[in-house]
Amino acid sequence: MLCTKLEFNRLRSCRRYIQIKGITRKYCAIAAIVEKSDVGSITEVKGWVRNLRVQKEFSFADISDGSSAQKLQIIIPKHLKTEQLTYGSSVKIKGKLSLSPRGQLEILANEVNVVGPCVVLDGYPFNPRTAHPPEYTRQYLHLRSRTNYISALLRIRSAVVKHIHDFFNSRNYINIHTPILTSNDCEGAGEVFKVQPDNEDTIKAMMQEGKDKDSLYFGLKTFLTVSGQLHLEAICRGMGNVYTLGPTFRAENSRSRLHLSEFYMLEAELAFCENIVQLQTVIEELLKYIFTETRNTNEKDIYLIDKENKKPIWLDKPFVTLTYDEAQLILNTKGSGTGGDFNKEQELILVDHCGGPVFVTKWPKDMKSFYMKESNNDSSKVDALDLLTPVTGEVVGGSLREDNYEKLKLKLPSERLHWYLELRKFGNIPTGGFGLGLERLLQVLCGVNNIKDTLPFPRWPHNCDM
Ligand code: 4AD
Ligand code: MG
Repeated sequence: MLCTKLEFNRLRSCRRYIQIKGITRKYCAIAAIVEKSDVGSITEVKGWVRNLRVQKEFSFADISDGSSAQKLQIIIPKHLKTEQLTYGSSVKIKGKLSLSPRGQLEILANEVNVVGPCVVLDGYPFNPRTAHPPEYTRQYLHLRSRTNYISALLRIRSAVVKHIHDFFNSRNYINIHTPILTSNDCEGAGEVFKVQPDNEDTIKAMMQEGKDKDSLYFGLKTFLTVSGQLHLEAICRGMGNVYTLGPTFRAENSRSRLHLSEFYMLEAELAFCENIVQLQTVIEELLKYIFTETRNTNEKDIYLIDKENKKPIWLDKPFVTLTYDEAQLILNTKGSGTGGDFNKEQELILVDHCGGPVFVTKWPKDMKSFYMKESNNDSSKVDALDLLTPVTGEVVGGSLREDNYEKLKLKLPSERLHWYLELRKFGNIPTGGFGLGLERLLQVLCGVNNIKDTLPFPRWPHNCDM
């Protein structure tokens, strides 16, 4: 960014001032301090006291600032240890970066400022060096980013999002922001949240004869999106390969360990995609890329969450593919076939049987959504896929899209989707795509049992307090 001459001069004199005083003040995130390991430099850290040991001449504080799984030990001489410097307080500390006798980076403090005291006995719910169970920390959503477990998960989540963008960027996919407000229920399962104004003046001003309250604002019923797929398909038919990563909403009455009312979904739409194997290849490469990269970039965070978390053996093997009928046969031999859609237990039996992730393809038409392409050699089936993984079962759902105008017209659930049908009229192309639940992916990656611990503020039935 360019600055004015005045600003430039001011900056220059500031810098000189610092040099004249002989102070090289550096404020850095702990992640950067650890990376540079600039031993001997005067360093400033700002963060929270995660642990404090008070001894006769010195106190030892472990500071975390959220940027890294690593905490920095600060050695505080007796005269700088104030009453307010306690576990949980926020601090600004300056001192010399040094190496401890055991080779650990630490700061010998010469300035300690308590920014925000923390009176633990006044109801602070956490204790030092305690692994609080997730069910406990979930009661304190506003404070739980101060725990090792949740902060590690949020750093991993941030890294996974970066790896997703890197993966698609390197393959020339365009990132599209699909709308959150929509008038379609893409999946047709009736799990939409309705949207309408809450302001009485707006309602009065916009009310029309014969219009319902819930359609007065946009002129038709409007919902929070359950999937950006249909919009993505429209852009794909003008721009080629595209993807989107955004919030998705489902009004399911489920409090299971795998369902949220608001979750993030990565959706990709592949142009000129005629074969479901093309889709499977991209999904498999994406998953392996995310797992490999994140295990490298966030090794310490993954360890913080689960010390037993090892590289899964399936990362070096091709994913298995079963047709829906083959999967049913396997379940029958295990005495758990039912003939319908799979429940969670059946999905996990299949994953266990295959020793890792498994694609289930060629699904009965009546079990899947209207947009899925009828299989060429069997009109009772659609070219759909679910990817089942350990921990969660289904983590990805996708399909080739019905590109035959007449067939799609017969299956179209609503007149309002005429625009979606029209996409097949002008310069149509075959496409296929998929949706990957970000939170379920994090569950698989980190071995997290409950989806509510993979995002900062989970929403589920009866839970949207803050
Ligand atoms: O299988 P779904 O419903 O597929 C679609 O929405 C397609 N329109 C995607 C596409 O083809 N572009 O959802 C995709 C994934 C699921 O496999 C699951 O991982 C996740 O989204 N998901 C949920 N995650 C958390 N809570 C919920 N209530 C979820 N519902 C689906
Ligand atoms: Mg699905």
